[in-house]
Amino acid sequence: MKKFYEMSVKERREELAKKCGLTKEELKNLDIGGIDVERADVMIENVIGVYRLPLAVAQNFVIDGKPRLIPMVIEEPSVVAAASNGAKLTLPDGFKTKVDDSIMIGQMQIVKIRNISEAEKNVLKTEEKILEKCNDKNSTIIKLGGGARRITTKQLKTAVGEMLILNFHVDVLDSMGANTVNTMLENISSFVEKLTGGKTRLKIISNLADERLARAEALWKKEVLGGEDVVDKIIEAYEFSKNDIYRCSTHNKGIMNGVDALVIALGNDFRAVEAGAHSYAAFNGYKPLTKYEKTRCGDLKGSIELPMAIGTVGGAIKSNSCAQLALKILGVKTAKEASGICATLGLAQNFAALKALSTEGIQKGHMKLHARNMAIAAGAKGKDIQQITKQMIEDGNITISHAETLLKNRS
Ligand code: MEV
Repeated sequence: MKKFYEMSVKERREELAKKCGLTKEELKNLDIGGIDVERADVMIENVIGVYRLPLAVAQNFVIDGKPRLIPMVIEEPSVVAAASNGAKLTLPDGFKTKVDDSIMIGQMQIVKIRNISEAEKNVLKTEEKILEKCNDKNSTIIKLGGGARRITTKQLKTAVGEMLILNFHVDVLDSMGANTVNTMLENISSFVEKLTGGKTRLKIISNLADERLARAEALWKKEVLGGEDVVDKIIEAYEFSKNDIYRCSTHNKGIMNGVDALVIALGNDFRAVEAGAHSYAAFNGYKPLTKYEKTRCGDLKGSIELPMAIGTVGGAIKSNSCAQLALKILGVKTAKEASGICATLGLAQNFAALKALSTEGIQKGHMKLHARNMAIAAGAKGKDIQQITKQMIEDGNITISHAETLLKNRS
């Protein structure tokens, strides 16, 4: 049987349709890339077209005991293959996840308060009443069981005077939460102004969703990695990231290669997830979002923890047929499940990068794909693509001009 990566796009689609129960209609969406220009025109302003990126499926993931196919949208070669390889080496056990409830923090800034401590006390005394006002019975999120749960306060002394900051901790269930929280805060701002005697300014969600953390972990056995020596090399690579911010930035970027690819496939706001991830990493000085340790048996234990503000419901997700398809391929309904898979993908991606970087380097695999791209760019078709790719690698000359020369010599 052919492996997934050896199949043609048509064969992969057939395989996926069988495994995930996709209809012909759903498969057609893969050609338009989720939205057409009419749909795009009502999503943002000044639309002139749609912009497409490759959509692939990562293989070999077993997460909390369930096999999962993971849709990934990314332009960078090697990322999907690396994640699939990283996951394969955890089999048969796979990954375990643990995800918080979907609590987002909405912030309200209050300025020009005469007595800030008195105002703060008033807010805390009236917390229940404020929460009641936040949780308007008519809103969908409240009907579904979500809503504001508590308020915390903070006084800031700034260059332009004192401010009182209210953090609203809101359970947004399966939504990303920005619209819910922002609307909630705007609706109660005049009540808060009366209560504090101040003026409310910013009313906005925080992307540092540190009460909405997703975690994943896995064990890579030393014999699967090629010996304890490889475990040691990966730990050395991790220590490098832990102790050097220049390396740590790239370490976390590699994690986000996986996380963002799934977040985009799910039609979510990847900038929000990026902001959350990097600010969380910087909480106590910028650190890696993953951790590695050697177990007593000499195996490698890896884990990840990061904020994951994503939803499985919401306007942009509903209007993108590829996002709907991605949810179906993934086989999830709740934001919590999807978040655990995002974290898992980030961990698999990071493990694969550290393994490659600390052993053979990443350019070998990377150049193979790059050579294929060059062959196609030079005009190779069908069987020629593979042969010219192979020749370029053998010649150690991966350029369009060399691909063109090889192509000319063949015809
Ligand atoms: C490239 O997109 C990602 C890596 O640089 C990550 C890393 O260095 O850990 C390979």
